[in-house]
Amino acid sequence: MKSYRVAVLPGDGIGPEVTTQAVRVLDTVGECTGVRFEKTHYPHGADHYLATGEAFPQEVIDEMRGYDAILLGAIGDPRIEVGMLERAIIAGIRFQLDLFINLRPIKLFDAKLCPLKDKGPEHVNMVVIRENTEDLYTGMGGFFKKGTPDEIAVQEMLLTRRGADRLFKYAFDLAMKRGKKLTMVDKANAVRAFDLWTRAFEEIGQDYPEVERDHAYVDAACMWMVKNPEWFDTVVTSNVFGDIITDLGAMIQGGMGLAASGNIHPGKVSMFEPIHGSAPKYAGQNTANPLAAILAAQMMLDFLGEEASAAAVEGAVSSSLVEGEIPSASARNGLGTDDMGDIVCRRVRESLS
Ligand code: IPM
Ligand code: MN
Repeated sequence: MKSYRVAVLPGDGIGPEVTTQAVRVLDTVGECTGVRFEKTHYPHGADHYLATGEAFPQEVIDEMRGYDAILLGAIGDPRIEVGMLERAIIAGIRFQLDLFINLRPIKLFDAKLCPLKDKGPEHVNMVVIRENTEDLYTGMGGFFKKGTPDEIAVQEMLLTRRGADRLFKYAFDLAMKRGKKLTMVDKANAVRAFDLWTRAFEEIGQDYPEVERDHAYVDAACMWMVKNPEWFDTVVTSNVFGDIITDLGAMIQGGMGLAASGNIHPGKVSMFEPIHGSAPKYAGQNTANPLAAILAAQMMLDFLGEEASAAAVEGAVSSSLVEGEIPSASARNGLGTDDMGDIVCRRVRESLS
């Protein structure tokens, strides 16, 4: 019997509620297919930090290497210095496990979920590959004369040729499996460091003559994503720009309640999470939408090679929205977090048995 070891890190705010539902969906898949998901829960996040003073110890990161995958809920809490836990836990996992791909599908399941006029599922179906271990996120920089009128703050934007090459190889390979069009999004006209990307993209692209190479500056890309989202199939971009354009992408697919991501190093333990934050205001109310967390579990299944189960989970989410059993991805759609989990589990069971 196949068995996977999964580290579950529910985290802060709405993280635990939505993760509970994602785990239920995994368990349902397990019941129907006989695949086992051996889960180990980790308590790290704001409460754990406030109780113990421990953010995310190195031993835990090292332990994570022993799993097949990691499922994360959300991290962030207003009681704690801005960004501290996010850097320790989210960036800690991304950087130390070298998860250089942040895969973020933007797929509209039903026209009624889209805020754009006259756009339907045939127009919004792209995937953004966000670089995940470089750029402004490396933490290189600091403060000088902090707290004085002469204060200087510096943060370096880092791009490497090795990083660009492995990123673009992954992106072209994925484009080959999708619509054979790859759009690189950067800001080479103003930020000259991106010249490295321009050259690497061109060179790696030579090995993929079947893939149409396209390019957009990030400001224009935001415009096109709203005006003509159908132009995009596979998109590759930098860490910061990918962070920004995928929030825009989440809105055109129906909201943050539907946007999931995979932090991936092909062939190694990888981490899956909704792209929304911890939404502390909504924590504990059983109103948060668990679909993004469920779709993160779906991406995990796909990554593990459980494609049929992944398709069943996506189908369950999609049909529940299309048929209106879940009216929208909003936290105020009248359904409880657990009700939405029930609906998806029932549909997964129907499709897998
Ligand atoms: C995301 C989040 C994180 C990021 C934060 C929480 C550090 O916004 O995954 O998109 O900026 O990468
Ligand atoms: Mn973000």
